[in-house]
Amino acid sequence: MSLRIAVLISGKGSNMLALKEACDAGGIDGRIICVVSNRSTAKGIEAARDNGTPVFIFSRNNYPKKRYFYMSQLFNSLKINFVVLAGYDELVKCPLLSDFKGRILNIHPAPLPQFGGKGMYGLEVHRAVIKSKTKISGPTIHIVDEDYDSGRTLAYEPVPVLKDDTPETLAQKVLTVEHRLYPEIVGKISRGEIGLR
Ligand code: GRF
Repeated sequence: MSLRIAVLISGKGSNMLALKEACDAGGIDGRIICVVSNRSTAKGIEAARDNGTPVFIFSRNNYPKKRYFYMSQLFNSLKINFVVLAGYDELVKCPLLSDFKGRILNIHPAPLPQFGGKGMYGLEVHRAVIKSKTKISGPTIHIVDEDYDSGRTLAYEPVPVLKDDTPETLAQKVLTVEHRLYPEIVGKISRGEIGLR
């Protein structure tokens, strides 16, 4: 079944753009039907609009209550069958979570569960990795469940942490890998090569 994808973003949206490119190039059997952001200032919003993708803002301000109910309603009306978090900095809640159980994917920029959990977002993750003195980091793609970064892992790719890496240089190296890995895994899901339980 061809994927009808909603991408949730809070920031730059570079993974969202990588996914869009892969859809356009046929690497993913599917297309991005809409982008949702919980932050009206997210840089990725403009990039999505420039691409002609409809963007919906679901911030705490404009939906003080039942935000994930309305989001789920929207996705159902657009016949969305797959949700991809791409730099989304919030826990996804019910009923969206239950309505799309097992069909929500996230990418985290470090190994899990060691470098995940509440507050582990952005440069904070890479700071923790460097502080731990581990020699290997790298992005983890996982199914989203009710907790932070705790669902089943579908893919992980190691990225070496070098002696002189800063959180910024490490973030950039990991992001470059994400831009290849995320579309690859969504592509495999779209062709049934990775099964969703
Ligand atoms: C990525 O590093 C991703 O792993 C994390 O947030 C970052 C999003 O970057 N969840 P972008 O907004 O896709 O550029």
